[in-house]
Amino acid sequence: MKVAVRYFSKSGNTKRIAEAIAGGAETSAVSITDEPTLSGYADILLLGGAPYANVMAPELRRYAENLPPEKVGKVVLFTTSNWSHRTVKGLQKILQAKGIAVADEHFYAQMLNINGRLEAAREFGRKYSGDI
Ligand SMILES: Cc1cc2nc3c(=O)[nH]c(=O)nc-3n(C[C@H](O)[C@H](O)[C@H](O)COP(=O)(O)O)c2cc1C
Repeated sequence: MKVAVRYFSKSGNTKRIAEAIAGGAETSAVSITDEPTLSGYADILLLGGAPYANVMAPELRRYAENLPPEKVGKVVLFTTSNWSHRTVKGLQKILQAKGIAVADEHFYAQMLNINGRLEAAREFGRKYSGDI
């Protein structure tokens, strides 16, 4: 099973969570700014970002809008923020409208408790490790 972790992060919180999830999933976390189009097929794509002034970054929105449905089996979402889970809801809507399956569960880390959520993020990633 091929597992990929992709994220958008301006100030590093989502990046740290993405790297912990990727550690658990035994893969690497790649920024969508470094790889704007998903390379290859992923059975599971763990995709994350954050809201800025109530909206997800346009870079992340475009990534989801342009994600080819035939390149992913299922998307699992994660987000960091002050309080909002809006990025997850927004991504869910975009992806499902394209016919892409999105897992019911998602991972959340509050922006002031990133350190406190790293082990849980690794555990979350472990569930999607290629071994299972
Ligand atoms: C300009 C700005 C606007 C933000 N607006 C929101 C918001 O509307 N709702 C919220 O819950 N968090 C908001 N946040 C908090 C970020 O979503 C949070 O810090 C997040 O972890 C940033 O992720 P990053 O470090 O990966 O860029 C905002 C942060 C910034 C800098």
